[in-house]
Amino acid sequence: MEPASANVRKRLICGNWKMNHTHFEAVKTIQDMMASLSDEELMRVDVVVHPPFTDLRSVQTVLETERFGVFLGAQHCYFEEKGAFTGEISPMMLSKLSVSYVIVGHSERRQLFGQSDEIVRKTLLSVAGSGMTPILCVGETLLDRESSQQNDIVCSQVEKAFNKVSSSIVSKMAIAYEPIWAIGTGKTATKEDASEMALVIRDKVEQIQGREVADSLRILYGGSVNEDNCLSFLRDVNIDGLLVGGASLDGKKFSAIVKKAQK
Ligand code: PGA
Repeated sequence: MEPASANVRKRLICGNWKMNHTHFEAVKTIQDMMASLSDEELMRVDVVVHPPFTDLRSVQTVLETERFGVFLGAQHCYFEEKGAFTGEISPMMLSKLSVSYVIVGHSERRQLFGQSDEIVRKTLLSVAGSGMTPILCVGETLLDRESSQQNDIVCSQVEKAFNKVSSSIVSKMAIAYEPIWAIGTGKTATKEDASEMALVIRDKVEQIQGREVADSLRILYGGSVNEDNCLSFLRDVNIDGLLVGGASLDGKKFSAIVKKAQK
């Protein structure tokens, strides 16, 4: 897909289904989205669903057969192309299924499965190398925020992820700022905090990669976003979209968020 050009960044709304939905439920969710969203609405904003691996083929088939303009995403992958890595999935396997976006370094992968900054960096490179767009997740814990460490923590995650990554890759990417304490808790960051962090992230990217790259990369907010609170984040000039977990599981509710994201 075309990179978002500076100052006219197209909004990106991603639905991270996490470990939810069998392939039957996945198809039903897409059908509910099809009943709710028009082609015009999907042209004005980039919409991605990130189903579990077991649902990808079914969702791909529905999206392609119905020519429904939603992008297919994955939640994770391993950076190697193939080999003895029991239980893992490679970027190449995902790209063959028409996956366009891959979430890299989600806090649940980092915290529950020990994904290190170095693995995040390698995965990001590997995903981009297979022609897909990485969505890098960064965010601080409650302890970090309470001790005013959030900017340092997030900047360090960005710096480590982008170490020796070319500007042509970074400019097409998205970064999702997801404060860990806001994920699945019903507590969102304030719009001011999310906006300020988006600025901090963009400044950091500018330091590493220059103004043009920083201008074209999209920065999303994630953490307990729903139909009722999404507009406060979307109205902020520093925030280019949303990474939605729980509220993306219902096709109609997720579509309502997409409708509010129309510019
Ligand atoms: P949530 O999840 O919307 O359920 O808080 C967001 C995420 O983890 O991507």
